[in-house]
Amino acid sequence: MLPVGRSAEREVKVDGRHYRSIWCAGEGQAVEVIDQPRLPHLFEVRALESLEDAAQAIESMVVRGAPLIGAAAAYGVALAMREATSDEALERACRRLLSTRPTAANLRWALEEMLAALRNRHRDERVEAAYRRAAQLCDEDVELNAAIGRHGLAILQDLASDKPPGQPLNVLTHCNAGWLATVDWGTATAPLYLAHDLGLDLHVWVDETRPRNQGALTAWELGHHGVAHTVIADNTGGHLMQHGLVDVVITGSDRTTGTGDVANKIGTYLKALAARDNAIPFYVALPSPTIDFSLGDGLSGIPIEQRDPAEVSGVTGRTENGDIARVEVFAPGSAVANYAFDVTPGRLVTGLITEAGVAPASPEGLAALFPQRARAATQQR
Ligand code: MRU
Repeated sequence: MLPVGRSAEREVKVDGRHYRSIWCAGEGQAVEVIDQPRLPHLFEVRALESLEDAAQAIESMVVRGAPLIGAAAAYGVALAMREATSDEALERACRRLLSTRPTAANLRWALEEMLAALRNRHRDERVEAAYRRAAQLCDEDVELNAAIGRHGLAILQDLASDKPPGQPLNVLTHCNAGWLATVDWGTATAPLYLAHDLGLDLHVWVDETRPRNQGALTAWELGHHGVAHTVIADNTGGHLMQHGLVDVVITGSDRTTGTGDVANKIGTYLKALAARDNAIPFYVALPSPTIDFSLGDGLSGIPIEQRDPAEVSGVTGRTENGDIARVEVFAPGSAVANYAFDVTPGRLVTGLITEAGVAPASPEGLAALFPQRARAATQQR
């Protein structure tokens, strides 16, 4: 476990500096983020100066990952309050931000937190209160992920104790549930960073995660932290599992129902099926704002985002001369569909790693960890 008293802040990460994925700059009212579509080839910081900047950054996935979407939306409300502080402006800002992406539960959650902090405040106090609450939500996200790391670490240490000496613990992860997807630490990666820092012999299989290749973000993060890893094509996981080369799968989640069904990046379900067929533990790491207790069945209840087909029909990368360029993959004329997420039923999940502990992916499991929220949801039904 993380030694008591150790800060939830992480070590230096990029070019000798510690970064979070979102922060305030200047006089404290400018918001800055890492321009994620430019990674891993270019590390660039982008300023968000208005409500519309924040909304477009979420839509275009300059910021992405469920917890970071929530954090960016919170700052989006603060930026909106700089433009106008009326009730109508507040509600309009929340509506605009809510419309940006449909699947991540953290978006609505963060906006509700902002509304609760601002609704009953005098208009003159709203700008300051909005920045304060957004900053708190970010700090809380860091703490939640650090706690997920501590609970996940215990699982990794347990699994590692069964490995023959000299053999690393092989973890497979899908998409980027790393510090770039949260404010810091990441969800699925928090236990990996802690385990690595404590000297556990670890190797991570990183799925490429087509169509947007968020695996490149995970590989970039792990590389900067010094964690041994190998990038694999999305279809490789099942083969590795059949050959004993995966000890555990850990993914993140964009929305988890009160019954333990998990929406995560497209392809997660296939990894869960392969893991079950090969008796490999499949864990999902998530902070409680990702849980949507109002939903029972994930398949019918969780809205699955469909994005621009161009994300499937083309890829962007770095050319030999160092330029960033997009190329087309398919001949023109074929219809292309781009489902961004899928739902893994709770029955395929070994456990949900949350800030409050590890729970079975079931109504009872989640209610035991978060009794108040589960009870409130039951009463509202
Ligand atoms: O479409 P994205 O990049 O926002 O999707 C991100 C994921 O699916 C992550 O795995 C998920 O948000 C968990 S992040 C901590």
